Amino acid sequence: MTGRAPLRAGVVGLGVGRGHMRAYSELDGVELVALAGQEPDQLAGLGADFGVRRLYPDWATMIADGDLDVISVATPTALHAPIAVAALNAGIHVLSEKPMAESLASARSMAEAARSNDRVLDISFNQRQRGAVRAMRELITSGQLGELYYAKAGWLRRQGIPSLGSWFTRSTLAGGGTMMDIGVHMLDMALHLLDEPAVHSASAAGYAVFGPRGRGGMAGRARPVADPDGRVAFEVEDLSTAFLRLSGGATLLLEASWAQWIPHDQCYVTVYGTEGGASYEWGGPPNAPYQRLNVWTEVDGTPAVLQPLVPENGGIRATVGNFLAKVRSGTSGDHWGEEALRRAAVVEAIYASAAEGAEVSLD
Ligand SMILES: NC(=O)c1ccc[n+]([C@@H]2O[C@H](COP(=O)([O-])OP(=O)(O)OC[C@H]3O[C@@H](n4cnc5c(N)ncnc54)[C@H](O)[C@@H]3O)[C@@H](O)[C@H]2O)c1
Repeated sequence: MTGRAPLRAGVVGLGVGRGHMRAYSELDGVELVALAGQEPDQLAGLGADFGVRRLYPDWATMIADGDLDVISVATPTALHAPIAVAALNAGIHVLSEKPMAESLASARSMAEAARSNDRVLDISFNQRQRGAVRAMRELITSGQLGELYYAKAGWLRRQGIPSLGSWFTRSTLAGGGTMMDIGVHMLDMALHLLDEPAVHSASAAGYAVFGPRGRGGMAGRARPVADPDGRVAFEVEDLSTAFLRLSGGATLLLEASWAQWIPHDQCYVTVYGTEGGASYEWGGPPNAPYQRLNVWTEVDGTPAVLQPLVPENGGIRATVGNFLAKVRSGTSGDHWGEEALRRAAVVEAIYASAAEGAEVSLD
C-alpha cells in the first residue's frame, strides 16, 4: 500500500463471499480487483456484476498473481488456514470468515503467520454488528447493569442444517457442526459483551439426532449431497450445549442447534448484572420475524423495563469496514487474530468436553 492509493482487494468464495464483494465495492478507499471460486458460471456472473476482470478457479493462483493488499476468505472452513497463511506470507492482510479454522492448531498457524509477517488477521464475526448488540455493549460499558456475573446465549434453528451431506456436515472440512457454525457467533457475542473474560473451563454435550436420519435440512438449500453409494454424510453434531466458567466467577450458558423441536428459529443473548439485566432476542417464523431488546432495571426505585432505540444492523459491511480501518491504521500488531484464537480454543474445549463427557480446563 502506498500513500492514499485505494487498497486492492480480492475475495475467495462465492457463497457468503458475495457480502464481502458488495462491501468492498461500496466502501471508500478500496477497489475490488480479483475473485476466486469453483463455480465457473457464478464466477463469470459476479465478475460482470462487480466489474472485476481477474477471475480465478483456485485461490492459490489468485495469490500467486500478486498485487493484492487485502483478501477475504469465504471458503469451506478447512481451507481458511491454508489460504490465510499463504496470503499473510505474501504480505496480504486477511479477513477470514468464521469460524477461524476447523481446529485450534490451524487457527494458531493463522495467528502465527499474521504475527511473523506483521499483517492484519481479522475474523468475520458479523453478528456482533447487530445494532442491539452495540446498544447492549454501550449499556454495559457505561456501568448501567453493574457487574455482570451470568450470561446465556443461543442460536436455535427448527430446521436449518446447511445442505445435508455438504462440506458443512463433514468433520474434516467443517471441524464440527452447529457449535462450529452458528454457536461460535453467539460465543463471540457473549464474550464481547462480557468484556473478554478468560474462559477457564467448558462442560459440554453434543447430539446428532436429525442429520443421521436425513432430517432437519434447511428449507430452500440444495437437496442432500450424497456419496456415490447414496449415503448422506453427517459426521458432526446438530445440537450442542455448553456451560463455561469465566474469570471472576462469572458463567456463560451457550447452546446452538441446527435442528430441534421448537416452534421456530430463535436467537438470544442475555446478560445479568448486579444493577440490571438485558436481553436481545430475535427469530420467529418467516412471516412473523421479531427482534426485541429489553433492559430490566429500576427507575427511582421502581422496577422498570426499558426498550432502548436500536441502531441499524452493521452486518458484513461493518465487519469489512472495521477490517479496512485496522489495515489503514498501520497498527497490525494489535490485530493478529488473538481474539478469534481465544474463541477457537473455547470451541475446541467444548468439543473435547462433549467427547470425554467431562469438564475440560482451558488454563
Ligand atoms: N458470517 C456469516 O454470516 C457466514 C454465513 C455463511 C457462511 N459463513 C462461513 O463462510 C465460509 C463459507 O461458507 P459458504 O456458506 O459461503 O459456503 P459455500 O459452500 O456456499 O461457498 C464456498 C465457496 O468456496 C469456494 N472454494 C472452495 N474451494 C476453493 C478453492 N480451492 N479455490 C477457490 N474457491 C474455492 C467454492 O467454489 C464456493 O464458492 C464458511 O467458513 C462458513 O462458516 C459465514
